[in-house]
Amino acid sequence: MSEDERFISGTKMPLEEENSAEMRLRPETLSEYIGQDAIKREIDIYIQAAKNRQESLDHVLLYGPPGLGKTTMAMVIANEMGTSIRTTSGPAIDKAGDLVALLNDLEPGGILFIDEIHRMPRFVEEMLYSAMEDFYIDIIIGEGETARPVHFPLPPFTLIGATTRAGSLSAPLRDRFGILAHMDYYTTKDLQTIVQRSAKVLQAKVDDEGAIEIARRSRGTPRVANRLLKRVRDFAEIEGTGMVDAHAAHHALELLHVDRAGLDKMDHDLLLTIIEMYRGGPVGLNTLAAYIGEDVETIEDMVEPYLLQEGFIRRTPRGRMATEKAYMHFNLPFELDH
Ligand SMILES: Nc1ncnc2c1ncn2[C@@H]1O[C@H](COP(=O)(O)OP(=O)(O)OP(=O)(O)O)[C@@H](O)[C@H]1O
Ligand SMILES: [Mg+2]
Repeated sequence: MSEDERFISGTKMPLEEENSAEMRLRPETLSEYIGQDAIKREIDIYIQAAKNRQESLDHVLLYGPPGLGKTTMAMVIANEMGTSIRTTSGPAIDKAGDLVALLNDLEPGGILFIDEIHRMPRFVEEMLYSAMEDFYIDIIIGEGETARPVHFPLPPFTLIGATTRAGSLSAPLRDRFGILAHMDYYTTKDLQTIVQRSAKVLQAKVDDEGAIEIARRSRGTPRVANRLLKRVRDFAEIEGTGMVDAHAAHHALELLHVDRAGLDKMDHDLLLTIIEMYRGGPVGLNTLAAYIGEDVETIEDMVEPYLLQEGFIRRTPRGRMATEKAYMHFNLPFELDH
């Protein structure tokens, strides 16, 4: 199964779809942004302080698993700062001129949002150092005899970087961000609020139990919660009473192969491989990836973090191990030598 097919993955939608559907569901202010309270409180203070001093906000690095609201937070920050935001992604900047053009086009105090910042080419990253620190870029224009250095002063700006893997960022780049925000999985309570808010935006009828059921099975991830809500609503409207209640949610999620704990086929494949093929582990990540036919990065970014956080697997120096909770989830006897 590819990432795109994975129904409950945190993967982004194609851009056109994102514009219509996801954009409407995005909160626009800090007070509408649900959960992540510690981050919100901190960022609120930095925003107010920067505004009082009429300065640009310090650079912000948002990191955490896909679908937790990093892009949304970047938009909210721009909105709260009352400034414009331009969006790009690490791999999309592949020429020195691209970066200069992006930064040069910003209004003073404007925001450049770089998604997947860990995938930026190395030389772009190095150009960013002086841009972030002192608002200038030096580049060499021309080749051979005609090559000459050019100094570009830049308007003051805020860089917001987003990444699913902060560990892949070089230390010099990471150190240039004044504000580091680690996004965590959401609580069921927060996800329930998100489902209820989204239902209002989508004009879907959802009762408390329906919202809780969806929240519980969303892998701690707002993007997943919103997707499940839309699918369950379809089932409710066509096969049920039109109301997204516990029954509709239960029925729809069963058909979508999302289990009680919010685990899907990819999670099951991974856990059952460890349990059945490797007697509970430890098994190395590469072996595991090859066995279930996924690349290591997908497993590390999209599958493993939630299983680790929920205690279904453990990471050991010799590889991944299934926990007693994983055995219990499948009603399998937990072997004593673990
Ligand atoms: N705190 C929140 N409150 C309400 N809705 C949220 C919140 N965070 C995210 N969402 C919803 O979840 C969706 C996904 O969020 P977003 O695109 O910001 O995630 P992301 O972290 O940028 O993901 P990726 O790593 O894939 O880029 C958004 O469309 C938004 O509707
Ligand atoms: Mg994003």
